[in-house]
Amino acid sequence: MRGRPIETGRVVRGRIRPPGSKSIANRVLPLAAGAEGTSEISGLPDGDDVRRMLEGIAALGAVVQQVAPGSVRVTGIAGPPAGDTRIDVGASGTTMRFLAGFAATGSGATVLDGTQRMRERPIGHLADALRSLGASIDFPAVPGFPPMAVRGPIEGGRVTVDASVSSQYASAIMLAAPHARSDLEVTISDDVVSAPYLEATVEALQCFGVPVGRHETGWTVGAGSYRAQRLAVAPDASGAVYPWVGAAITSGNVLVEGLDRRTSTQADMGVLEVLERMGATVTQEPDGIRLEGPGRLQGVEADLTACPDGSLGLAIAAACAIGPSRFTGLGTLRVKETDRLDALENELRKVGVGATAGPDSLDIHPGDLRPASVATYDDHRMAMSFALLGLVTDGIVIEDPDCVSKTWPSFFTDLDAIAPPSVDVVAIDGPAGTGKTTVSKAVADALGRLRLDTGAFYRAATLVAQRTGAAVDAGLADELASHAFTYDDGVMRIDGEDVSAAIRTAEVTAGVSAVSAVAEVRARMVDAQRDWVRGSGVGVVVEGRDIGTVVFPGARTKVYLNARPDVRAARRAAEVGSDPAEEEARIRRRDELDSSRETSPLRPADDAWELDTSDLTIEQVVDAIVTRVRSS
Ligand code: DC
Repeated sequence: MRGRPIETGRVVRGRIRPPGSKSIANRVLPLAAGAEGTSEISGLPDGDDVRRMLEGIAALGAVVQQVAPGSVRVTGIAGPPAGDTRIDVGASGTTMRFLAGFAATGSGATVLDGTQRMRERPIGHLADALRSLGASIDFPAVPGFPPMAVRGPIEGGRVTVDASVSSQYASAIMLAAPHARSDLEVTISDDVVSAPYLEATVEALQCFGVPVGRHETGWTVGAGSYRAQRLAVAPDASGAVYPWVGAAITSGNVLVEGLDRRTSTQADMGVLEVLERMGATVTQEPDGIRLEGPGRLQGVEADLTACPDGSLGLAIAAACAIGPSRFTGLGTLRVKETDRLDALENELRKVGVGATAGPDSLDIHPGDLRPASVATYDDHRMAMSFALLGLVTDGIVIEDPDCVSKTWPSFFTDLDAIAPPSVDVVAIDGPAGTGKTTVSKAVADALGRLRLDTGAFYRAATLVAQRTGAAVDAGLADELASHAFTYDDGVMRIDGEDVSAAIRTAEVTAGVSAVSAVAEVRARMVDAQRDWVRGSGVGVVVEGRDIGTVVFPGARTKVYLNARPDVRAARRAAEVGSDPAEEEARIRRRDELDSSRETSPLRPADDAWELDTSDLTIEQVVDAIVTRVRSS
């Protein structure tokens, strides 16, 4: 799977509505499944967790009809499910726990199972509580861990739930309670973790008209049928953490729509208070919550027991702050999608931050941030958090970026929308002989923009190697670091010397593929190119091989020019007066080298517009690109 480079030097600004809360969605869906009548639920987030829940309630007998993206009609079972089914919850913890509770109210046997990681996540405390209410629970593999077979019904009365590992056990019991034989008084152990999630459960029950009485150590949930509802799921505060932290670390200003600080019970709203203590300004506005970042965040000490998911984003804020931070109350992070404390420690260290994870704490000492390829551990929150770090430091690549699909499939596009490149970039990539140079010059002229030829940087690096006799390996990057590479109005200079002609010799052309394949050389040249664009301050046209994929992945317009090798060879031969057959052989060899190298191989960006210029005139290509830029 491909890593995703994050373009740096961006500021988070504007407004955004994160996907609906999966915590709310996965509470209202099992309630809709048990209701009498047809519920209409909108604002559902598009992710694996909710999809598993929808599949699960359908397996238990609810009729689920998708009416629009994020909107479903659920015709309820009007009571406990029949059971006698098997549910694969995948990696979704809430689906596992909440459907185990719901299924345990029915008299048929239901088996719930999931991924290998799910099989390592404990569920024994929920089984204990359900058994004490009369359900029969079996663990066919390992006692206390999925797979789990449940069979009801459950009685009402009293139950105490050990919620020291996960508050979801208590939520599962409360969501199942309307289907018990009589009212159920649920007492929560006093070492409950993530308590605000229980409020979300109470709210969901109340939305469906289920009577809930509050007492000192828990709640009493009324048994009996309840009616279907029409409701919109509020945005996810756990998702809102990322735009907020993004604005906090980039001195930005972002409005997260659809959330109300005064009434929301979502656990991760707690992140706001910590960011305020770090120096951010938070304002409630009529349509959402605005966060404005300070010049620089300050380190902080905070107990994050109540907002464990948000701690990953806060760890990134702490990594960008002045002074150390200490977060406690994080023991539950060790039993999430991955051991998140270990994952944070490993990856923070990789990017140059001093990080020490204790049994339930994380100490962070900011350091000089450095480029790194960040592993995600198949954890969406790791991917989203470290992507933010990429906004403020060069060279962050997120491995396995697709794991964000768990809760926010369009995360990277949405991030680009609120953190656009500071300069509007038209990226024109493609192999040699596709007309890139002529086309990019004409496009820049037509748009009145500056143009950057990045190939000139690799040619200049090659010239340095040839002049100094430096070996073509990582050490060459050190030699390059002692020279200044500047590009101005089509003129390439090394330490002030105009080398525009010297970099076009056959000798340089023959050597440049090897030089441009060295990762350390590329890192240096990419820095120089980004500096040039940042310094230009206006819209630019950048021509190269990896502009849309690596140098400016957030470019607004990405074009990938291509042409048949024989056409490209004929164009080259006409230009330099060489033999077309020899030219074609050279072109094929260079294509092979450029596209098979390990670092930044030549390929179109996923979102590039691919244009085959074989049968087009230069004017046609230029017109097409200019029209596209003007209309986008
Ligand atoms: O565009 P050109 O032929 O002047 O480029 C010279 C070489 O530099 C080419 O072999 C590929 C390499 N190059 C690169 O690897 N990445 C870029 N962004 C631009 C050029």
